[in-house]
Amino acid sequence: MIVGLDHIAIAVPDLDKAIERFMNDFGLTFDHKEDVESAKTSTAFFPLETTSIELVHPLNGEGPIQKYIEKKGGGMHHLCFRSDNIEEDIARLKTKGYEFLSEAPYLGAHNCMVIFIHPKSCDGVLIELNQPMDH
Ligand code: CO
Repeated sequence: MIVGLDHIAIAVPDLDKAIERFMNDFGLTFDHKEDVESAKTSTAFFPLETTSIELVHPLNGEGPIQKYIEKKGGGMHHLCFRSDNIEEDIARLKTKGYEFLSEAPYLGAHNCMVIFIHPKSCDGVLIELNQPMDH
């Protein structure tokens, strides 16, 4: 079951500059920075009352975010729904014809199992599902 909007991600060409903007210009609380090897991204999180803003940047200049930034310069990248049973949600969505970017969920940012739904299954929007490992 989907239980909440976990975060919205923005692809940024300069991670430190964007962290400065969200922290100092917008006054959000910077939680942590994390390199996610499995997704080839560097991430930075700003938790809000019920969700987070996630900044995503290429890790070592490669991976899907690098391609996105080369193509678009930066921008709204994906939104993420929190699941309380990711395997069940994937199975349910697969029976409805949804396509995923990976065969199975994998360990993503801040100790969550994650999987991405193909944008062509959601009118061009990239949607991530995540479930914390300790739940
Ligand atoms: Co994300």
